[in-house]
Amino acid sequence: MRYLVDKLREITTRLRNVGIRDAEREAEALLCLALNINKAALYCHDLIEISNEASSASKLDSMIARRLARQPFQYIAGETEFLGLSLAVGTGVLIPRPETELLVEIVTGIIKVKHKPTLNVLDLCTGSGCIALALAKQFPTSVVHAVDISEIAIRYAAANAATNNINNITFHTGSLYGPVQTHTFDVIVSNPPYIKTFDIALLEPEIRLYEPVEALDGGQDGLHFYKKIITGAAGRLSEGGIMAFELGDTLAAAVMEIASEAGYSKLTLKSDYSSTERFLIINE
Ligand SMILES: C[S@@+](CC[C@H](N)C(=O)[O-])C[C@H]1O[C@@H](n2cnc3c(N)ncnc32)[C@H](O)[C@@H]1O
Repeated sequence: MRYLVDKLREITTRLRNVGIRDAEREAEALLCLALNINKAALYCHDLIEISNEASSASKLDSMIARRLARQPFQYIAGETEFLGLSLAVGTGVLIPRPETELLVEIVTGIIKVKHKPTLNVLDLCTGSGCIALALAKQFPTSVVHAVDISEIAIRYAAANAATNNINNITFHTGSLYGPVQTHTFDVIVSNPPYIKTFDIALLEPEIRLYEPVEALDGGQDGLHFYKKIITGAAGRLSEGGIMAFELGDTLAAAVMEIASEAGYSKLTLKSDYSSTERFLIINE
């Protein structure tokens, strides 16, 4: 017979031994997920025994083994939360990050000021669909297009739209503007791949071993997608339209330069929670 607090201690030690930061919080989360209990139950009922039922014990063992192999917790859980939306994630799709929630909040603030009833929005490199979904939900009369080169990502994104009852998005599999050649947009938003190719090998194992490389690799200088998206926007941005990007660490100045060279002069940088210049808004 094992008690939850003992098991919690054991899992915490094992996670810590393989170098997982915040091992205690992760151990709590794994136990809650495997046993389908909430965090309070872990501590309020420290005499609850872990069921010896084969299914829940082996579920917990398999989850611990996956996490010890450094699979991201969100892939093990099969879902994550993004601005109140529950999104399915798994192998082949990038896990949405908290910074990207901030990008959506910034864009939302700008759109609200515009007071345009039917906005045409394009989310390039949509991945799980997080940005497109959050904007489409916030602005139900908008017409949103979301593009990704990965069929797996688009399958996740479309399923996420369905489970969240969001119907004003069209999903396209293809490269950047390829599938939306004939459209113009009031908002073009993107969190593109922006890690320098050489730096991918230096990332945490959760990212470099499990997240899709095509979601990370921004080319030698990390700028490949910013160049393509910014130069490709000519003729696709409507009068008064804006572009908004999430930026890789240290890329702010270089992306500003790309935008200036493309003829844009109204450029605003905004910082993330750790005061890194993380977002560029063009034409705000
Ligand atoms: C950094 S992830 C962003 C995913 C999502 N927007 C987010 O914020 O979590 C970049 C995405 O770009 C996609 N991608 C890579 N090359 C692309 C291309 N040429 N055209 C469209 N999407 C591409 C990848 O498949 C991946 O889903």
